[in-house]
Amino acid sequence: MSSQFGTVLKLTTFGESHGKSVGGVVDGCPANVSVSLKKIQAQLNRRRPGQSSLTTDRSELDQITIVSGLENGLTLGTPIAFYVPNQDQQPGDYDRFRRVPRPSHADYTYQAKYGNRSVSGGGRASARETIARVAGGAIAEAVLATHTDIEIIAWVSAVGSIEATNIDMGRLSRQDVDQHMVRCPDASTAEKMAQQIAALKEQGDSVGGIVSCVCRHVPPGLGEPVFAKLEAALAQAMLSIPATKGFEIGSGFLGTRMQGSEHNDVFIASQKGLRTKTNFSGGIQGGISNGEFIYFRVAFKPPATIGVAQESVDFEGNRTILEGRGRHDPCVVPRAVPIVEGMAALVLADMFLLQRTRHASV
Ligand SMILES: Cc1cc2nc3c(=O)[nH]c(=O)nc-3n(C[C@H](O)[C@H](O)[C@H](O)COP(=O)(O)O)c2cc1C
Repeated sequence: MSSQFGTVLKLTTFGESHGKSVGGVVDGCPANVSVSLKKIQAQLNRRRPGQSSLTTDRSELDQITIVSGLENGLTLGTPIAFYVPNQDQQPGDYDRFRRVPRPSHADYTYQAKYGNRSVSGGGRASARETIARVAGGAIAEAVLATHTDIEIIAWVSAVGSIEATNIDMGRLSRQDVDQHMVRCPDASTAEKMAQQIAALKEQGDSVGGIVSCVCRHVPPGLGEPVFAKLEAALAQAMLSIPATKGFEIGSGFLGTRMQGSEHNDVFIASQKGLRTKTNFSGGIQGGISNGEFIYFRVAFKPPATIGVAQESVDFEGNRTILEGRGRHDPCVVPRAVPIVEGMAALVLADMFLLQRTRHASV
């Protein structure tokens, strides 16, 4: 289903950018999982618009209200429903897009598909929808914390052509990532990224970037071959986030330049079973986690709504010049970090619950 994600642990999201609220329902969450509202809100605050000078100037508090499924901090095993009101709306900014679809946004395709759409704020295609992914992801993390030591950390590894390459995935914490508003844990690179985003915001233009993510202490055995291989499920999750254009796991495309003798992750014995000397596989083989770090990268395009004038045509085909007005992110990656973490958590929690139906001792 188009607005539902997951097999056992299911997230349904609802809402348009300038409707009354956005929110979601998490169904299939086991009872007696300890869920901290503070932790959910903390992740939402990392996604919130208006959180720094590098994001859109739309300012939303994004305070979550949970309306069901939780009592005294424990899940009840029933659907967990939640919502976040939309407050800072300036629908007038979007009047132009009623007639002229924004290049590379979703205006034309939503209209072509449904013959109708919520124009204001980008409607359902707006990144406000991802609030439910972040909240649902925080609930999924609570499920994982009940049974595993899994840690999921995402960070900004590139903005335009500025890249941070020397990040120690083994030690990185969310606190390290949040040291700089760009969410790149390498301070000097983060500063360069910030300068580039600020300069483009000033010009009314935008830039893309990469969010990297590591999932540590994932037990061997998660993933459902053949169609829901773990990397396939992660790819689907990541590529469903607005503005994504690429997903790469382990050695990714660079692996194509290596020879088998270099690329093979040779097994070594350890007290906890087999480990591998290298990890070009990115922690997944045959679609199943092997106990090594799962790491992947997600490519985000430059946001489509820009202040720079562009030649275009309206829905009737008349030539026009389009210049985006209103408040928009000059680069989405600093805000995408908790969204990537949330989607990774939803996949891993779902796969963990599925694995309990496959193996009696999990
Ligand atoms: C955190 C986040 C913030 C975004 N902010 C904007 C924005 O301010 N302006 C914009 O045009 N697109 C923004 N986007 C991207 C659009 O939602 C997306 O490009 C649009 O829905 C079209 O979908 P597609 O890029 O996946 O094809 C944002 C995406 C994310 C993840």
